[in-house]
Formats: sequence, structure tokens, C-alpha cells
Amino acid sequence: MSAAETNAAPWWKTAVYYQIYVRSFADSNGDGVGDLQGIIGKLDYLNDGTPNSLGVDCLWLTPFYESPNVDFGYDITNHCSVHPEHGSLADFDRLVAEAHRRGIRVIVDYVVTATSDEHPWFAESRASRDNPKRDWYIWRDGWNGKPPNNWIAVSGGRGWGLDPATGQYFYHPFFECQPSLNWRQPDLRRAMLDVMRFWLDRRADGFRIDLLNHLVVDEQMRDNPRSWKGWYAGRFQQPLCTRDQPESHEVVAAMRTLLDEYGEKMMVGETSSFPWEPSQAHTFVNSRELNLAFNMEFFVYRFQAQKFREVVDRYERVAAADGWPAWTLSNHDIPRHFGRYGGARIIYGERADAVARARVCAAMLLTLRGAPFLYYGEELGMTNRWLPRRWMKDPIGKKSWPLFSRDCWRTPMLWTPGPGAGFTTGDPWLPLDPDADRLNAQTAGARPDSLLNFYRRLIWLRKELPALQIGAYEPVAAADPAVFAFRRRTANQSLFVALNFTDRAIPVAGAAGGNVRFSSEPWRTDAGARLTLAPYETVILEE
Ligand code: NOJ
Ligand code: CA
Repeated sequence: MSAAETNAAPWWKTAVYYQIYVRSFADSNGDGVGDLQGIIGKLDYLNDGTPNSLGVDCLWLTPFYESPNVDFGYDITNHCSVHPEHGSLADFDRLVAEAHRRGIRVIVDYVVTATSDEHPWFAESRASRDNPKRDWYIWRDGWNGKPPNNWIAVSGGRGWGLDPATGQYFYHPFFECQPSLNWRQPDLRRAMLDVMRFWLDRRADGFRIDLLNHLVVDEQMRDNPRSWKGWYAGRFQQPLCTRDQPESHEVVAAMRTLLDEYGEKMMVGETSSFPWEPSQAHTFVNSRELNLAFNMEFFVYRFQAQKFREVVDRYERVAAADGWPAWTLSNHDIPRHFGRYGGARIIYGERADAVARARVCAAMLLTLRGAPFLYYGEELGMTNRWLPRRWMKDPIGKKSWPLFSRDCWRTPMLWTPGPGAGFTTGDPWLPLDPDADRLNAQTAGARPDSLLNFYRRLIWLRKELPALQIGAYEPVAAADPAVFAFRRRTANQSLFVALNFTDRAIPVAGAAGGNVRFSSEPWRTDAGARLTLAPYETVILEE
């Protein structure tokens, strides 16, 4: 039964995804910067086809393209290239071939909304007002020596840069060094769709699409309305004219048509910019547009069963019938959840139960209906590394955040004990976690009770249980709100999942007995007449 049920589902629905911040994953040549060759050397750790490996099914590689690296690769100067510090196109081809040989898929970052201001397209565009590529970007006259309108950038500050030579302003949704592309221009659109073809022809399995909700802006350039209720990027403004424009749906549909020419590929969109805002992300997810869009609402809540459950139930209510959820707790833009939920070692000291909490998080991601996205190192319990200002590399931190920058959660992956932590033989581009000797993959892999082995067990179990991969989600009232309980069901399988978010033992209502398929407690062999969860216990029963 099981194989037939899951075989019918496309791979991108059942896959466990793993985000690799390429600069920080593995350095093969000792220059301190992660590279594609380094990733090839770690593929067996990621999935060697046995439960001794993590077992992830698809890698998302953050940008490795040519770039002046102001925004570490999100400021691209050539979309169809590999930055020499990360390797070559031949390395990319080898990486994909080696990954595919192990049944691992590879998706790449598709940065569609802006380019670097050093991109040759922008050099042409800014050269003169009548340059044929002028309208590949968004140029407007100022007004009384001021920018054309009140638009602001997601990263803070005004959304317009002035080009003194031609006397006009260009719009930028993020940093000023990232001018916005104009997707209404047909030649630009063709050129950007060709970028997709380029990577699909090289056998990439799909794309993570950057800032997709900012792809198109209001054609009439109207001001964003002021709002005393909404706080957006440091101003009281509602981004009604700069985000979620109806025209972007048509562009995404064109991307999907192209993608589908290549067989079963996938795209996952970054379609919400601030997790605390009501998200429009799900409106892009259906069989004509995106396969998946990140749901980022978990980012804003403390470690509380009830809040997470509300997020899931709300999303299940609004998702399109042909949509599919995508869950994540950490990425390269927000502090790692291990730190958020009590494992911020450096500043506050780690809570005694930080690892137990991280287990509950892993279990939630890997048992909910939808695609789980893991962020490299979360399986080790890597946390946010406080960095003195002089070591910060990310412009957001240097400019505006006094204590943290995104560097704090982009520190190098920890592979082995000893200097360089197996990440590099040279000087790492960002400092290593001082706990590297304890947290590294080699040491954790050898300890049966490590967080890493917990992830491994669950990921491999997920492959065995069709209901975990594709089953419907049914919330269960567990009596105590500190327990998140639900069922996952297919025609042939019913699983009862219960996650205890507290350090108390809690009796759980709603369980109908059944075989224990998984528990975070090694002693548990049966559910008993009445299930009582141990502190922070995760249980999966097959009913
Ligand atoms: C979102 C990316 O995740 C972030 O890292 C980047 O700085 C911005 N988009 C701009 O491209
Ligand atoms: Ca390197």
C-alpha cells in the first residue's frame, strides 16, 4: 500500500528540504569560503541512502553566482555563472550529477526582483535616458529635488536611489545597490525566463524565488498610503503599491509554464516579507503558479503549542485545494530557532531544556502536512553567534542593528572537532561557534541521543509512513493547550501525533491507542490505556 500511495505524489510534495548557505557549508580549498566542491564532499552526510545519513531529499542552494557580495550573492552581476570563489559551472554540473546519483535533488536561488548595480544590464540602463535597456529597470523623475514618491525599501530607508548623471531616480526594493528590474518590459522578461532555462538545462530541479511578492510595483507609481496602524520597514506605511500586485500572478504563471516544460520540477517562493503581517503567500500556491511558498508565521511566536497550532489551522483554512504548505523555523534572514527558544548560549546562557525544545520543533516540522525546510546546522543545535561589530559582514547589521546582524546565524557549519571544525583548513570567513568541539556532526553522529540522530530517525521514519508524507491533517483537541496534537491520514493509514511543548508530564485526550511508531523517549513501547506524555515528549502512534 505505502509505495503506491506515495508514488502517486510528486516528489516535491514528499521531499524534506535542506537549505545550504553556500558560503558557510564546506570549504574545499582552504580559502575560508564555502564552495560547490565542498558540498559534493558532504553529500553522503546529507543522504547516502541509509539511516546513518540525514536523509534529506532536496537541497536549496543560496546564490553562488558572480556578485560583488554586498548582499552576499543576492546582488547578482551574472545570473548564469558561478562566482569563482564558489567554483565553476563544471563544479555545479558535478554537484548535480553526484546529488542525483544519491537521489538528492537540487534547487537554486532565482533572484528575480533586482540585480546588482554592477550588473552589465544596469550599466547600460543607467548610461543614458534613451539607452535601449533604460526601461529594464524602473526609472522616474524626482519631484522638487525629492524622490518620485514615498516608497521605502524592505531593508529600511527610502526605496529610491539617485543617478546624478542622468538626473533620474531608480527604485530598489532592498539595498540601494540592488536596483529593481522591470518585469513589464518584454525583453527583460524574456532574458529572465532564459535564466530559468539555463539552470533547468543544467539539470537543476527547480528554484527558490527571492522577494517574489515585490516583483511588480504599481504602474502609476502612486504613494503607499500612510497607516498609523501598520509598521512597515521602519515607517508607518502600508506597502499596497509595492507588494503583492495582481500582475505578479501572471508572471508567476509564465514561470510555471516554462518550468513544466521540463517535467516534474518545482518552485518555492519567498512571498512574504515580514512574517508578522497577514501573509498573501498562499495566493501564489496552486497548480498554475508556485508549487510552494514559505509560510514564515512560526518565526514570530514564542515556543508555545497553541500559537503554532493556530498558525497551522489558519493556513489549512485558507490554502487552495490544489495548494501544499511549506513549513520552516529558520533561514539565513532570521535568528536560528534554537537560539530563539532558549539556546542563545553566549548572551543569556543556554536553557537546560534547549535541546528538548529543539526536538519538539524538529518533530513538528517533520510531521505536519506540507514540505519541511531545514536550515543547515539546525540538526546539530547550532545557535546564533554573537559577533562584535567589527566582525560583522552583512550591511544590515553594520548600518542599522547595533547588536545583531544576519551574520550571527550564518556562521560556518561544524563538521569535526578541532581547528576550523572541518569547515575549512584556513581562516573561516565568519568566526566558528565556540562550542564547535561539542556540536559538530562527527561527534553528534556518534552519540545516539544527539539532536542529529533525532532528526535522522524522524526523517527516515517519514519515508516509511505515507500518512506523514501525504496524509490529510486533522487537528485533535488534546485537552491541555500545551500539547499540539493532530492526526495524519491516508485511505490506508491513520497516525496520531502529539507534541508536548512543556517540561511537565501531560495526559492527552483523543488518542485511540495503537502502535508506537516513534517516541522521543527511548523507554516508551506502548501508549498505555491513557496516554501521558513525558516532558517535551513527541509520540507518533499508528492507529
Ligand atoms: C531575501 C533574501 O532571503 C535576503 O537574504 C536578501 O538580502 C534579500 N531577499 C534581497 O535579495
Ligand atoms: Ca573555498
